[in-house]
Amino acid sequence: MMVESKQAHLQLLVFTFFLLYWHPTLIRAKEAEHDEFDYKEGSKKGPEHWGELKKEWARCKDGKFQSPIGLSDDHVTNVTSSLEDLKMSYKPSNATVKNEGPYLAIEWEGDAGSIKINGTDYFFKQCHWHTPSEHSINGIRYDLELHMVHQSTDPKIRNSIAVLAFLYHIGNPNLFLSKVNKDIMSEVATKEVHLGVIDPREIKWTSFSFYRYVGSLTSPPCAEGVIWTINEKVKHVSREQVELLQEAVDDYAEMNTRPLQPLNDREIKHYGLSLSDAPSPHEGNHGPKQYRSVSAQSPKESGSINAPKPSHPEGNQSPKQSLRLFTHITVCIFAYLL
Ligand SMILES: *[C@@H]1O[C@H](CO)[C@@H](O)[C@H](O)[C@H]1NC(C)=O
Ligand SMILES: *[C@@H]1O[C@H](CO)[C@@H](O)[C@H](O)[C@H]1NC(C)=O
Ligand SMILES: *[C@@H]1O[C@H](CO)[C@@H](O)[C@H](O)[C@H]1NC(C)=O
Repeated sequence: MMVESKQAHLQLLVFTFFLLYWHPTLIRAKEAEHDEFDYKEGSKKGPEHWGELKKEWARCKDGKFQSPIGLSDDHVTNVTSSLEDLKMSYKPSNATVKNEGPYLAIEWEGDAGSIKINGTDYFFKQCHWHTPSEHSINGIRYDLELHMVHQSTDPKIRNSIAVLAFLYHIGNPNLFLSKVNKDIMSEVATKEVHLGVIDPREIKWTSFSFYRYVGSLTSPPCAEGVIWTINEKVKHVSREQVELLQEAVDDYAEMNTRPLQPLNDREIKHYGLSLSDAPSPHEGNHGPKQYRSVSAQSPKESGSINAPKPSHPEGNQSPKQSLRLFTHITVCIFAYLL
């Protein structure tokens, strides 16, 4: 009797592990809802085909003002910036980190403040990351790009979205990103994680030199009328932080960078005057020489965006791989015991 119930118990356990291990929908449920498009070159759902996948995504194909683009100092209109060109008034507010499928995002609830561009207020909604960077500066594609997404509530405004972008190269850890640490990353694959109150000003805007042009969202539906403001100063992030971001998103989005889009006669303005070129104490001392540098492993512009992710060396497995291995070993042990 005793032996029988123990055996039933074991069988149930094995069955449970069997389900977890073999039933693809249990493990991959998250990916199923998000894999409407991907970033692979040559894939049927890749960037060249986004515009054909859905009627509402047609802009990805027909749009003439698409993003990202290559920014080059040879093709800019140099202007002197004034405080009116970018006014920031952020406020601390409760935030949640989420796996949105194509990227990891922090969303602010309630009023996290706004920026003012050209006399219009754009309210801060969320920030998210792309690896490697989507925009390039003078031919260099950096290791990471952060987008701070702002939206206007004025129904009459033509450009209703404003995005502030930062590029990063591999170096010292990034202080803001360290808020989203290992513990959070291991949870965020399956659920939202509350971060508490976060002050958007912690994403430090260190210089008043930036590029500005009008483009689009860089993922479907590729909606146009987005005012892009790209900080000229490239900041730093550690390789470990970039890898954590890549682990947290779905497999298809580990490289979540859209290829560069044609400029099509658009004007790129470069706002020059540096009101505070002094590096912030948190960002370390980066001379201009250093911030133009790029890590050896960063893919350059030439279409190598979708280069395969380096495989994890033995003994340094990703959480996903570890879970699989653990499950596999457990299944083997129970099979042996029976
Ligand atoms: C704009 O200014 C930068 C220096 O700040 C210079 O390198 C570049 O050539 C200028 N671009 C044009 C088109 O004048
Ligand atoms: C953040 O959320 C907590 C708990 O829901 C609340 O007590 C607090 O007032 C919120 N803070 C802000 C700045 O919204
Ligand atoms: C700013 O406003 C002026 C005049 O209203 C307009 O011509 C210009 O296109 C606007 N710039 C942006 C980036 O929206």
